Amino acid sequence: MDKSLSPDQRADLLLAQMTLDEKILLVHGNGRLFGPPTAASLLSNGGAGYVVGIPRLGIPALQMADAAVGVTRGAARGRYSTALPSNVAEASSWDPALACQYGALIGRELRDQGYTMSLGGGVNLAREPRNGRTFEYKGEDPILAGRLAAEEMKCLQAQGVIGDIKHFAANDQETGRNIGNVILSKRVLRETDLLPFEIALKQTEIGGVMCSYNKVNGDWACENQYLLNDFLKRNLGFKGFVVSDWGGTHSTAKAALAGLDMEQPDSEYYGDKLKEAVAKGEVPAERLNDMVKRILRAQFAAGQFDNRAPARVPDVFGGLEFAARVAERGTVLLKNGGNLLPLSAAKLKSIAVIGAHADVGVLSGGGSAQVDAAGGNAVPPPPPPPGTSPLDRMLRTPMWHPSSPLKAIAAKAPLAKVQFHDGADPAAAAALAKASDVAIVFVNQPASEGRDLATLSLPENQDRLVEAVAAANPRTVVVLETGGAVTMPWIEGASSVLEAWYPGIRGGEAIAAILFGEVNPSGKLVLSFPKSEADLPHAKVFGPAEAATPAPAGGTPDFRRQLPPFDIVYNEGLQVGYKWYDAQDKVPLFPFGHGLSYTTYAYSGMHASGGRNPQVVFTLKNTGKRAGIEVAQVYATLPAAAGEPPKRLVAWEPVELQAGESKTVTIAIDPFYLSIFNEQKDAWELPPGDYKLWVGASSRNLPLSETVRAGE
Ligand code: BGC
Repeated sequence: MDKSLSPDQRADLLLAQMTLDEKILLVHGNGRLFGPPTAASLLSNGGAGYVVGIPRLGIPALQMADAAVGVTRGAARGRYSTALPSNVAEASSWDPALACQYGALIGRELRDQGYTMSLGGGVNLAREPRNGRTFEYKGEDPILAGRLAAEEMKCLQAQGVIGDIKHFAANDQETGRNIGNVILSKRVLRETDLLPFEIALKQTEIGGVMCSYNKVNGDWACENQYLLNDFLKRNLGFKGFVVSDWGGTHSTAKAALAGLDMEQPDSEYYGDKLKEAVAKGEVPAERLNDMVKRILRAQFAAGQFDNRAPARVPDVFGGLEFAARVAERGTVLLKNGGNLLPLSAAKLKSIAVIGAHADVGVLSGGGSAQVDAAGGNAVPPPPPPPGTSPLDRMLRTPMWHPSSPLKAIAAKAPLAKVQFHDGADPAAAAALAKASDVAIVFVNQPASEGRDLATLSLPENQDRLVEAVAAANPRTVVVLETGGAVTMPWIEGASSVLEAWYPGIRGGEAIAAILFGEVNPSGKLVLSFPKSEADLPHAKVFGPAEAATPAPAGGTPDFRRQLPPFDIVYNEGLQVGYKWYDAQDKVPLFPFGHGLSYTTYAYSGMHASGGRNPQVVFTLKNTGKRAGIEVAQVYATLPAAAGEPPKRLVAWEPVELQAGESKTVTIAIDPFYLSIFNEQKDAWELPPGDYKLWVGASSRNLPLSETVRAGE
């Protein structure tokens, strides 16, 4: 309890007092949420994971909750937590300061509710845009995802809660996530899927890393020497603990020797079997000590021995306000034909609001990231087929938050007649659109953990709906509530398109604020939108069809594990996301980095320097009539000999500008972000040569460029 000592020293002192049985208690969970209760699990706070405390030594329990977009599983205990916009929306702000506040809010609400560890922090890359968990991640760029995750976790941990970053690694699809074997070279791993982890962990000491379900190059991620011991612990010097994804542990000695520190949620391999393995010398006692020390150290570092913050009712109003702010910053204006937006309330006599339950709520992403809706699902689902397991029920049922876009729109346009049509009959919806001054069509793509999207098309008849409405009224705005990219066969017909993602508990209000121009949109895409699925690196998601669906009614949640294993060969390699479109010379529907505003910006006067401290200086001017935030982006083309895709994002900055204002913007480029990974040397290097630096508004709109020399 001597606070003048470091977490390391304190963990060592405590460890020396522990018996073998006590050590074993700390390295495993105590039962599944949906499984039968155990004596220990009854002490759980109700989150996904629980590790007992040891009162004899004053060791607090680890109460872990999924908390990607807010604290989950409130309903079971009647608790409220803020349902924030999805992580992809947060990331679309490109704003590290906002990511910090996002993490801080989640950290506070975890603490308020008695949790001591977050299981959020997903940074898997949108390598496969049909991945059902895209909404939980931060897009397709490793540097952007890593930087934002670092800020989010730093600020979450400042609330006295242990952070986590996941799913380590290359768990880029849900189909067959328990049987798939991802094949990627070391160079590709280091430059793509491992890079957000490397960046986040170098920038902030995160307590936990969750290893993923899949195999990587032949070994399960949770018993993978290369991933855990070599890369994470030796190379990065990670001092926290590695926790298995839930049910992702496959062995005792192999996992322990490869670097897994904690099994969740059970004790199949890290309970009695681990004790036995230590007794037999199959797992050295020092290795068990190392596991325990890592866990204790994270608890000490988070201040959990020193300050036990009392439980508290979360700051509901503060949360609502912040949720609105994130939605406003993360919403991306994709298209604005004829500057139809912003709408002018004074000029509108009639507004048609159509589709996607916009009368009652906004969609959220499903699975373990699901924050329960305040007051229950705003769109109560039909009863599930008999025999559906609770887990699969959760994965199948889209949850809607009670934030009505219809009401929010009506409030902004008190003089207009605002009518709703559910969109089920496109012809009837089109008739309403035709009779209205403007039509706002809401469409959605539900997504959830546990399954991938069958296609990037909007489900059901929504494409037809948009087509019909846009044909009836040229003044049509489409609002997308999706977890990631969708295709838009109707794009020519729709005047304006707004990507609102899963916008959280104040989504309806934020959408209305943007539609009517109270907020000037500034979000930029963190993933590419393809014109068609034929443009993706792979025709379909890897794996057999049975591995793609939720468990059949009556099936066990683990039924997919019994399917034959298969390889996931990501032979696009380094060409993830926009790098693929660049390298393959394909034009996306909307490129990475794209996002419009109600004002306009001009880029000019670039000066770049290279050498050891590369940087770009340029002038950014708001040439329009409204204040706004422009996310200025810097990309680099590496020397040809580097063998890299045509360009990569290396820096960016959200710049706030009043109407007419111009600023000189200086952006330093971390030379690490220009580096490539040399497999032979097992090290990063900055290849000497000419680097072309680009500056502009998106990956496909780069008006400025200059070549500098670096790497010598
Ligand atoms: C998910 C993790 C989650 C865990 C605990 C797993 O199925 O993959 O992201 O943290 O469950 O709920």
